[in-house]
Amino acid sequence: MKVLVTGGAGFIGSHVVDALLREGHKVVVLDNVSSGHEKNVRTGVKVYRMSLSDPKLETIFKKEKIEAVCHLAAKTNMRESLTDPFADIESNIVGLVHLLEVCTKKYKIKKFIFSSTGGALYGDPESVPVKENAPTQPISPYGIGKLAGERYLYYYHKVHALPVVILRYSNVYGPRNERKKHVGAVTVFIQNVLAGKPITINGDGTQTRDFVYVEDLAYANVLALKRAKKDYLVVNVSGSKETSVNEMIRTIEKHAGKKAIVKHAPKIRGEIMRSHLSNAKARKELRWQPKFSINEGIKKTVRYLASIKK
Ligand SMILES: NC(=O)c1ccc[n+]([C@@H]2O[C@H](COP(=O)([O-])OP(=O)(O)OC[C@H]3O[C@@H](n4cnc5c(N)ncnc54)[C@H](O)[C@@H]3O)[C@@H](O)[C@H]2O)c1
Repeated sequence: MKVLVTGGAGFIGSHVVDALLREGHKVVVLDNVSSGHEKNVRTGVKVYRMSLSDPKLETIFKKEKIEAVCHLAAKTNMRESLTDPFADIESNIVGLVHLLEVCTKKYKIKKFIFSSTGGALYGDPESVPVKENAPTQPISPYGIGKLAGERYLYYYHKVHALPVVILRYSNVYGPRNERKKHVGAVTVFIQNVLAGKPITINGDGTQTRDFVYVEDLAYANVLALKRAKKDYLVVNVSGSKETSVNEMIRTIEKHAGKKAIVKHAPKIRGEIMRSHLSNAKARKELRWQPKFSINEGIKKTVRYLASIKK
């Protein structure tokens, strides 16, 4: 298939591009490189440096004969969304709706894969592991934007017959998570341990996260294109395992071969203490499962960050 990957110069999107190419798909990228880097995109892949709301967006569909879309372009900094909710709305809602208008009214796209979030959507869970039918109660403009995006997709599916797969990611980590404006927490931890710099943990480090390695997630996008039988599907894509921040740091120390210098800062108000998403539905509907354990994923990420440091 000819697939448009929006946000393909970003952390996850660039891995989605690689995974699609490995499966024999043809790929083009749309990215305004506001947080991603063009160097993340494999040589030979056409990159349109353009924003989602650019009126010229539809020329890409016409010229490239796009059949499917993996939509990852978004403002992704949850904390920034608290101070500038309007920028978030512009990319994550206005930009998305513009893209969906083109996908449905001018061109008949065969499948639309949407990168959503588990963490920012479910809020503090009543029980774990959290399933897809759990209440959604986002408490940030970023989370609200993702929920609004999901609602728009339901509308475009119901009214304009767009086949949709919504992937709700847990905490993603791996190579290329060094964005222009904000860097993922696991990446900062590894960079600092490698450089002998202190790392700051909010609270005592017993809070848990459900980590998933980026290549596993990229492959979930490939399977969503290939295997989703339903025309509207929402699945969590997660490691489905709780790991405390302290455990994560011990794994980093093991692979970096250095002790972390840990500083503790006060717990952040509103920060969730536990995160654990069930991935049973993705296993059933997409026959997807994570291949990389935390140990293997961190080993690969440490190697990558050590190699670009030199
Ligand atoms: N990283 C995570 O832990 C995580 C978790 C859940 C969901 N997600 C979602 O996955 C997707 C990818 O996230 P990521 O971590 O790779 O972030 P990222 O910031 O590395 O990638 C987003 C890309 O989109 C581009 N972009 C932003 N606004 C744009 C616009 N208006 N027009 C065109 N391009 C634009 C950026 O330049 C960047 O390359 C996002 O939709 C994000 O919300 C990420």
